[in-house]
Amino acid sequence: MVDINQIIRAIDHAGTLDELESLRIRHLGKSGDISALMKQLGTMSPEDRKTFGPLFNGYQRQANDALAARKAALESAAIEARLAAERIDLSLPAPERPRGSVHPISQVMDELAEIFADMGFAVATGPEIEDDWHNFTALNMPESHPARAMHDTFYFPDRNAQGREMLLRTHTSPVQIRAMLGVTKEHPAGAPLRIIAPGRVYRSDSDATHTPMFHQIEGLVIDRDIHLGHLKWTLETFLKAFFEREDIVLRLRPSYFPFTEPSVEVDVGYTLVNGKRVVGGAEGWMEVLGSGMVNRRVIAAGGLDPDEWQGFAFGTGVDRLAMLKYGMDDLRAFFDGDGRWLSHYGFAALDMPTLSGGVGTAA
Ligand code: DAH
Repeated sequence: MVDINQIIRAIDHAGTLDELESLRIRHLGKSGDISALMKQLGTMSPEDRKTFGPLFNGYQRQANDALAARKAALESAAIEARLAAERIDLSLPAPERPRGSVHPISQVMDELAEIFADMGFAVATGPEIEDDWHNFTALNMPESHPARAMHDTFYFPDRNAQGREMLLRTHTSPVQIRAMLGVTKEHPAGAPLRIIAPGRVYRSDSDATHTPMFHQIEGLVIDRDIHLGHLKWTLETFLKAFFEREDIVLRLRPSYFPFTEPSVEVDVGYTLVNGKRVVGGAEGWMEVLGSGMVNRRVIAAGGLDPDEWQGFAFGTGVDRLAMLKYGMDDLRAFFDGDGRWLSHYGFAALDMPTLSGGVGTAA
């Protein structure tokens, strides 16, 4: 026989939601004892049903009400317990020193912006999700161009509304096109133009010197009567300011990039100090930049008349510049997020790079 008082007592004392659920199943589930009583009603004579109907219905309602009440009580107790456990003590003293530090990449990006701003360059940005026209075609790399294959591109499965293939940009060079077309946020007009474009780029490549995401900076100058001499002076002035040394020596080597003609690779001289390469002097050479005079086809793709406008462009890896300047030797550490590495190589938040104060003073 069903003892409703005992059932209610058990429900009222259930200690957990799981226990409550098993009580519900035992009494009100498909084969529960109260459910069995309800089923018996169907087989009774009309007189018996008159007597037992209200009684059994009452059991069912009482049990349901008790379950709902206990459930609400257990749930609010759980919330109370969580609130008590998650309390923060706002009266705790602040740490002695602020703990965060500026990542060397952010620091170097700020240094670059500061140095180039001093030479009249503005910062331009473009999307990291690009289309293949801006990333390749407009930069004189048509579909069959072998340089495309060298970029280890991450493609998206779907094309955009214009039917162009979508990809993660493999270099910052597409910002050249956007700047000339006047479609970056920062640059409504086409030419003359003096911009740098720092930012993230992506290639499907990973080892001690390559990560699938890395940083580049692009430079572009478009004006009348621009020549290679301007390019060399600009890069020399930039590298002297960046490495904070006067004895920077550059060597321009003929090279090939689809988007420049002629193209040059820029080497910087180094000196060996305790077996480590330090920029400055000319004991040896290492490559630091790609550059050249902007190809006429690229100027035309940027919507400008190549008979009227010329210019130069350059591009380089920001991570590599940071490693050379601050002496890290594994690129992967930049992206590990290890607090010890950051507190060693990071920069104080208030140490803004300025030309007068020194562009990069380690924390
Ligand atoms: N976009 C080239 C790369 O990712 C770098 C580069 C080379 C950029 C020469 C330039 C340039 O603007 O003139 O390897």
